Amino acid sequence: MEAIEAILTRRSTRRYSGEMPERALVEKVVEAGRYAPSGGNNQTTHFIVFSDAEILSDMAGLVCKEFAEMEITEGMYSSLKNSINAAKKGGYIFHYGAPVFIVTANKKGYGNALADSACALENMMIAANALDMGSCWINQLHWLDENEAVRNFMYKYGLREDETITGGLIL
Ligand SMILES: Cc1cc2nc3c(=O)[nH]c(=O)nc-3n(C[C@H](O)[C@H](O)[C@H](O)COP(=O)(O)O)c2cc1C
Repeated sequence: MEAIEAILTRRSTRRYSGEMPERALVEKVVEAGRYAPSGGNNQTTHFIVFSDAEILSDMAGLVCKEFAEMEITEGMYSSLKNSINAAKKGGYIFHYGAPVFIVTANKKGYGNALADSACALENMMIAANALDMGSCWINQLHWLDENEAVRNFMYKYGLREDETITGGLIL
C-alpha cells in the first residue's frame, strides 16, 4: 500500500476476530515504531508487546478492577469517565479482546516522553494498516500509570521503575 493511502485509510478498529497475526508482521509494526523520530534523537521509547491470551485476560481483569474502584470527578476526561462507568458495571474489556497489545513507555520526567511515544504509535498504526491489520490506540494503562497494582503487573513484563506508561496499541 502506498504511504498516503495507508495514512488516509487508517481507522481505529474495535472488533477483533482473535486471530493471531503472524509474528513477522507484528515485528514489522514495532520496527516502524522504533524508526519514529524522537526529540534530540533520544530513542528512549520502550515497546512491551503482549500476545499471550492468558496474560492479556489477567491484565483486562486488573484494569477492570482498578477502574471500578476509581471515583468520577468533575471535569474528568469523558473517555476516562466512560471506562470507569463500564468497569463499575463489570466485565469491562479495555482492549476489545485484540490478540496483540503493544504498550509504550518512556523515561519519567523526560519532557518529550508523550510526544516521542505518540510518533511511534502513529507510525505503528499506519504500518499496521499498510500490512492489512486493524489497530487502535488504547490509553487505559497510561491513565493507570500511577496505579500501584498496574505498575507491579507491568514490572513483571519489563516496565522499568524509571519509566512512565505513555500509551498503547492493539492489533
Ligand atoms: C491519544 C489517543 C488516545 C486514544 N485512546 C483510545 C482508547 O483508550 N480507546 C479507544 O477505543 N480509542 C482510543 N483512541 C482512538 C480515538 O478514539 C480515535 O482515533 C478517534 O475516535 C478517531 O477515529 P479514527 O482513529 O478511526 O480516525 C485514542 C486516540 C488517541 C489519539
